[in-house]
Amino acid sequence: MRRKNYESILGEQEYFTTPLLSNSIKSALTQIGEPKPGARVLDIGAGECPLRPTLEEMGYEYCSLDIEQNRGGTINFVTRIDGVLPEQLESAGGFDLLILTEVLEHVPDWETAFINLVKLLKTGGHCIITTPFFYMLHEEPYDFWRPTDHALRFFAEKHGMEVTYSRRNGDGWDVLGTLLCSTSVCRKQKSVAAYLATLPVWVGHKILKYFFKKRTLQCLVDLQMRYYLSNFIILQKS
Ligand SMILES: C[S@@+](CC[C@H](N)C(=O)[O-])C[C@H]1O[C@@H](n2cnc3c(N)ncnc32)[C@H](O)[C@@H]1O
Repeated sequence: MRRKNYESILGEQEYFTTPLLSNSIKSALTQIGEPKPGARVLDIGAGECPLRPTLEEMGYEYCSLDIEQNRGGTINFVTRIDGVLPEQLESAGGFDLLILTEVLEHVPDWETAFINLVKLLKTGGHCIITTPFFYMLHEEPYDFWRPTDHALRFFAEKHGMEVTYSRRNGDGWDVLGTLLCSTSVCRKQKSVAAYLATLPVWVGHKILKYFFKKRTLQCLVDLQMRYYLSNFIILQKS
């Protein structure tokens, strides 16, 4: 999904995940604290650069990298994070902050990507990563992974970064709500019988979606499950 910001919800299937992502990013930026004067951030897999205004308002000097140029032509480095980095980028000195929101699931070579992240980060600098764990296929055929938080920790620590914060976003209500909102009810045949069978399922699906989106029961009932929506992790180069 190529979003312009994290404040509005793009499609129904984003209903549960977007507010969680938005809050995670805000809380990560608060945890890391005010940037020092001249601090530089690299938004990796930046897409339409939805975080640019927030980061610039905070005082960061903003730079973006993506495998392809965006619609506004605002990507500074058109290159892949899991390949050979352009010399101009490597020689530009380390960044204080790296951000990868909903990117690593599209990156096939994590080994090279993490080597590059460490190269691009200043010592003491932070790296904020979010990745989906329960989410529909998107940007196919470039949709490779649904990593666990253990995978992120493994690659980070293997490459000398410390996990300073890690959270699993989304409870059972969010997961089931996302599943419902990613499902369409359709007739399988053009017969009266198929119409009559589909109608109650279609109505039931609409009603269920309505209650999940209203979050009527969420504050009263805990739905426990070993699925969650997305990973949110903050790393630091020690
Ligand atoms: C789902 S979009 C997320 C965009 C943005 N970070 C956001 O939060 O809206 C994934 C982005 O990663 C980029 N991307 C995919 N593979 C990449 C790679 N190997 N290196 C760098 N960027 C990549 C895509 O072009 C796309 O812009």
